[in-house]
Amino acid sequence: MKTAEIKRRYLAHFEANGHAVVPSAPLPAIDDPNLLFVPAGMVPFVPYFLGQQTPPYRRAVSVQKCIRTPDIDEVGKTSRHGTFFQMNGNFSFGDYFKEGAIPLAWELMTTSSAQGGLGLDADRLWVTVYLDDDEAYDIWHRTVGVPAERIVRRGKGPNFWDMGIPGPCGPCSEIFIDRGPEYGLDGGPEVDEDRFMELWNLVFMQYERGPGAGKDYPLVGELPAKNIDTGMGLERMASVLQGVDNLYEIDEIRPILARAAELTGKRYGAHSGHVASESHPDDVRLRVIADHLRTALMLIGDGVTPSNEGRGYVLRRIMRRAIRAVRLLGYQDPALPELLPVARDCMAPSYPELAAEFGRIADYAYGEEEAFLSTLRAGTTILDTAIAETRSAGRPALSGEKAFQLHDTYGFPIDLTLEIAAEQGLQVDADGFRRLMADQRNRAKADAQARKTGHTDVSAYRGVLDAGGPVEFTGYTELTRESRVRAVLAGGGEVGAAAEGDTVELVLDTTPFYAEGGGQQPDQGLITVGGGQVEVFDVQQPVPGLIVHRARVVRGEVRAGETGYAEIDVTRRRAISRSHTATHLVHQTMRNFLGASATQAGSLNAPGRLRFDFNTPTGVAPSVLHDVEQQVNEVLLADLEVHAFITTQEEARRIGAMALFGEKYGERVRVVEVGDYARELCGGTHVARSAQLGLVKILSEASVGSGVRRIEALVGMDAFGFLAREHLLVSRLAELFRVPGDQVADRVEQTVTQLRDAEKELDKLRAQLVLGGAAALAAQARDVRGVAYVGTEAPEGAAGNDVRTLAQEIRGKIDPARPAVVAVAARSNGKASLVVSVNPAARSRGLAANDLVKAAFSGRGGGSADLAQGGGLPAAEAPTLLLTVEKAIADT
Ligand code: ALA
Repeated sequence: MKTAEIKRRYLAHFEANGHAVVPSAPLPAIDDPNLLFVPAGMVPFVPYFLGQQTPPYRRAVSVQKCIRTPDIDEVGKTSRHGTFFQMNGNFSFGDYFKEGAIPLAWELMTTSSAQGGLGLDADRLWVTVYLDDDEAYDIWHRTVGVPAERIVRRGKGPNFWDMGIPGPCGPCSEIFIDRGPEYGLDGGPEVDEDRFMELWNLVFMQYERGPGAGKDYPLVGELPAKNIDTGMGLERMASVLQGVDNLYEIDEIRPILARAAELTGKRYGAHSGHVASESHPDDVRLRVIADHLRTALMLIGDGVTPSNEGRGYVLRRIMRRAIRAVRLLGYQDPALPELLPVARDCMAPSYPELAAEFGRIADYAYGEEEAFLSTLRAGTTILDTAIAETRSAGRPALSGEKAFQLHDTYGFPIDLTLEIAAEQGLQVDADGFRRLMADQRNRAKADAQARKTGHTDVSAYRGVLDAGGPVEFTGYTELTRESRVRAVLAGGGEVGAAAEGDTVELVLDTTPFYAEGGGQQPDQGLITVGGGQVEVFDVQQPVPGLIVHRARVVRGEVRAGETGYAEIDVTRRRAISRSHTATHLVHQTMRNFLGASATQAGSLNAPGRLRFDFNTPTGVAPSVLHDVEQQVNEVLLADLEVHAFITTQEEARRIGAMALFGEKYGERVRVVEVGDYARELCGGTHVARSAQLGLVKILSEASVGSGVRRIEALVGMDAFGFLAREHLLVSRLAELFRVPGDQVADRVEQTVTQLRDAEKELDKLRAQLVLGGAAALAAQARDVRGVAYVGTEAPEGAAGNDVRTLAQEIRGKIDPARPAVVAVAARSNGKASLVVSVNPAARSRGLAANDLVKAAFSGRGGGSADLAQGGGLPAAEAPTLLLTVEKAIADT
């Protein structure tokens, strides 16, 4: 059965049983600062489990794209570790519990494939339950009929599931398949998890866990309801239903592996047995290539681009591991152009957007491969030099510092260093390397720790939210609002009241203040409560649904429970709204010119100015930028109506609303449209008509990291002010150069050229002046013990070059048969310098320019025996320098 078909059957089974089909969230876990990528199907639903948000459905089913990298080193070595995988999951939010989840799973697994099920043989299935979970045990045994000998009770390790970080958790029950004696020992999952492979995990989500490592964490409470979260690894199920040994051989991965084998001339499986752990290294490498390139495809598809930190670094590491594996298999050329299209063809049936976006994805991927291959080349050269040095110094091992430097500075992998050194018969000080790596890791950890302690504790906010429910934002239509003060917080807790001079956080029941979000800056303004008044300088949503006003009490006192009057700073809000609408127009227009791959990577909507970051592998030509700006301003003139409405995700997609990368959707979404020109999912505030923007001026376009470019623009009066200032500047230049404004640039260019020519001429004349005296000076050479010696000071203002030339010039004018030494001292900027030139006849008498300079400067100065120089003494020392040289000649 094809992977896509298993996915389809899974969704259909649960849809038929009353579940809403929810599309996969993007791989980057945008909403959770503790996660880089979504590691499980339940992650997008966490707020529902915790009761922070009311789910729009009580039963849901999804096939979620997931990434897990902690076991990256296991990839290819076992049969069941993949970095990217798809998790089929069904969810109940306070609806059915164990009695529903267990039979639903069993039914899908054991119904014959002719009748729409997965057709697994019930006799090959084993199940586990948490130690004392008699309820689950009884359902398996009595209701479903699994014989007692195939139900295993297991401890917290395997059978209590959590996300690895604070959040929902609970005991779980897992379903395993016995793959047969050729895969390992008998005795169930407790004995051998390769032979007995886990297929489906049913989590009975009912507690909230606190912080702690591993399974060592406290339960901080029960969830508001008993929920179900299940996870069935799609790839594992596919490997079973397709009768292949491991997940790298399923229909979505095997073709990549096959192409890699073809390319590198290896025969996959030529040396291996059934069990993946007995695999030949070449087979492991082929699997790594197939797994990692599929992961890279999916990550870039979801907007991640290679970089040196965070998500981008994970992608880079995965890609490099794959590229390196290709190289180790003996293929040296760029391989991605051969392999990535195969990965695309494997995945496009389930993810058609990969085919549509492939141009962009390939640009990033191929670029990364080229960059890494040149790193490898550069690293190899540096390593070769280091090896040669180590050898000639007679040391047996390359130093840990060198290996670390190669790794840290050049991104050169340590295993490659080890391998190449070994080929050359050298060892590497691996302990030293590891020590330096550990130091670096500790520094990084300390950094992360420091950042963490800067985090505010959100429990007080959560308390306020739980007590009063979400705060309603009324600011789409209102600028002022009367509302009860629900809470006054300070120093991380509720305080009830605050007095003049205090900085506080206020929560109102409803508010017109916009909390910073979606790139839009927060509102500011005033809240008047009884006799008191606070000035709001920031508005945030520390937990979803809770709007918190950060404010200073400027008069009187504020108390929780009193009624307040909130009014936002309208001028600021309008300027921000203008920027936000402008951002939508810039976004749409960029896509008009660059294609749909110019996706937004971030934005800032501040009063009067905006920043728009977007993904693109190349820069944007100035002419394109000019056209973008023009088109945006034409839209302003067209005075289009700006209109916001709430609709379903499906409808929004149907009408082509741009959905931004990483945005999190509920069932209902808000769409903002500017006439028919731009349509985008957005929670921000906007103007009513496009003409209210007045003017949009793009200031710059520049790179802000690999593959991400940034446009900065001004909007409204700020745009006008900028142009007016520029105009003034041009007028002033026109006046100074006495030409019309449109000729200023030509005139400046002309003037710069003239100036440069004049400077060259001046240099020439100065050199002539300096050199003009050379012959006369040569004629005045004095005899110092048989050496013709000229000691002179260069004319005022002679540059360093001129002084050297003068010295050489004078020397050239002296008969080469006579030993000759020329010393020219110069004064500039209060310092004396000296150049000494010695001819071959003098050199054969044992005189050397560098020795003479060193004599003059007590050991300092540099150059050759032929020509040398020194400097840095006070200007008044110039004559002494000449005398010292003369004396040194006399003493030789
Ligand atoms: N959340 C559970 C898992 O990831 C189903 O295994």
